[in-house]
Amino acid sequence: MTTPREALRIVIVGHVDHGKSTLVGRLFYDTGSLPEGRFEAIQDMCRRRGMPFEWAFLTDALQAERDQGITIDTTQVWFRTPKRETVIIDAPGHKQFLKNMVTGAASAEAALLIIDAEEGMREQSRRHGYLLHLLGISQVAVVVNKMDRVGYSRERFVEVERDCASYLSGMGVVPSAMVPVSAREGDNIAERSANMPWYDGPTVIEALDDFHPMPSAADLPLRMPIQDVYRFDDRRIFAGRVESGILRVGDTVMFSPSNRTAKVKTIEAWSADQPIEVRAGQSVGFTLDDQLFVERGEVVSHTDSLPVETNVFRARIFWLDEQPMVPGRAYKIKLNTTSTDVRLQSVEKVIDSHDLSSVAGDRVEQNAVAEVVLRGRTMLALDEHATNPRMGRFVITDNYRIVGGGIISMEGYPDQRQLITSLATNITQVEKGINAEVRWSRNGHRGGVLWFTGLSGAGKSTVALAVERELFRRGYHVYVLDGDNVRAGLNANLGFSPEERAENIRRVGEAAALFADAGFIVVTAFISPYRSDRDRAREAAMRVVGEGAFHEIHIDASLAVCEQRDPKGLYKRARTGDIRDFTGISAPYEAPDAPELTVSTDKQTVEESVAQILGYVDQKLAN
Ligand code: ADX
Repeated sequence: MTTPREALRIVIVGHVDHGKSTLVGRLFYDTGSLPEGRFEAIQDMCRRRGMPFEWAFLTDALQAERDQGITIDTTQVWFRTPKRETVIIDAPGHKQFLKNMVTGAASAEAALLIIDAEEGMREQSRRHGYLLHLLGISQVAVVVNKMDRVGYSRERFVEVERDCASYLSGMGVVPSAMVPVSAREGDNIAERSANMPWYDGPTVIEALDDFHPMPSAADLPLRMPIQDVYRFDDRRIFAGRVESGILRVGDTVMFSPSNRTAKVKTIEAWSADQPIEVRAGQSVGFTLDDQLFVERGEVVSHTDSLPVETNVFRARIFWLDEQPMVPGRAYKIKLNTTSTDVRLQSVEKVIDSHDLSSVAGDRVEQNAVAEVVLRGRTMLALDEHATNPRMGRFVITDNYRIVGGGIISMEGYPDQRQLITSLATNITQVEKGINAEVRWSRNGHRGGVLWFTGLSGAGKSTVALAVERELFRRGYHVYVLDGDNVRAGLNANLGFSPEERAENIRRVGEAAALFADAGFIVVTAFISPYRSDRDRAREAAMRVVGEGAFHEIHIDASLAVCEQRDPKGLYKRARTGDIRDFTGISAPYEAPDAPELTVSTDKQTVEESVAQILGYVDQKLAN
């Protein structure tokens, strides 16, 4: 018999009235997983009280025992399918459920979403569908229940199937199966139904067996956050707990976020024998073949499967504090062994944990679940909860109290490791031949970068070209770098994934700094949706040219206005799903926090916007 550890952990979500309890009762019964005599006991009870038998009674009875901790025999929580054991970690209607899931205290590998065939995809089912997205569960099978009530109609099933698939795909959830069932009658649960000969997909049990269990912690990539660094004689011992994977003597390991590598020389254990490997769950110390200065909180991994490096991430959080969580405020989070400061950058969505309805507003009240974006002050090494549950969760503290917890998702955000890793070695920079002041005095103006950022359709290119024309007419050395143009050449090998956008902006930031150093006023017209990228472009201009060379200009128009303008017809295509990762629709845009200038193109004419920028240039860049 398999041990519970190897069991598949699932949640069953859906409206109470859609037959969740009935399905659970059926699954236990049909798989022969009920404790001896339990089924008969419930039948007896029904007979005595003169009530018709309900599968839900069975589930409720099991549930009550589980809640009271009476159940010792694990078979009452697990049921056995042909392939493995499955445990339902959702206790239907359990108050702690959302909190446990969102804080990472419990995690599910797969889900069954149950929908009533008569009712179809109503508001409630949408909320439960959204819940799957919120919990980051990507393995989902949909169970369309109560098919007996619609005469086992194929047409009705196809209708529900279509609605459900289109809703879920909008959130990136693709169901592995959609099974028409009657939980009460036992159709398509364990046995193929004779009432629906038109259906040739899997039964519920088969759908469950088609799910893939998460690899065990030891099978995941190595992650060992450093808890402490001890010095013994002249040796440094790095101590911590292996959260996932296996660490072996002789392994080349990398420390993140400092990005330094070395080889493991010895593994030190408290026992007499020195082990040659340690696995997930064990706490150890090790030494390196090289003297590295590494601090507590760094994460050890192998060089071929590294954690994400980022200063901004998305999180699904559960908020516990009476004081609401508000944007702009700083909080401490405890991530692995590090405690670090983050700021709440934005609240994307708030969900009432009682009825799963969306709550308006941009603050997170007590007991609410929310999707938020958090920004750290420094680079952090982390994993998404979906790929490594142990590393992808954190708790939020405020004045040493726990005020919330959450799980990490990088959806829409890039891993920044590549951007900050320099591979060039053995280089010696050449001095500048002509210094900046000499160029400026001959040109009559300073060089600098006017960095336009804004949504597609906000008017970046239009305003940039008009500004260029006017500055040129006035004798300025000026040049426009435009997204669509640079992407036709220098950056033709980059698409629109978060990482590629970040690389796009890194290159443009460096190119713009060189133009500025050559004495030009360079106007860049790129969406440049990420703050971190724009900050790096600013640093490049400061490094190459100097203080005051970078001017961030927010070309600001609301999403509604940009979508209405839709000059290239791209928003329309993004809405239909024809273009993926489209900024503002299906990819993030982080508006600047404190730009040097904001130009509101939805409130003024192009001429007015141009005049505003020319005024700024005259003031800041003219000699
Ligand atoms: S950025 O995000 O990497 O800064 P950039 O400004 O270079 O984008 O390119 C944006 C232009 O590419 C848009 O004006 C639009 O014409 C086109 N484009 C094509 N696909 C997308 C997409 N998925 N998101 C945004 N713009 C896109």
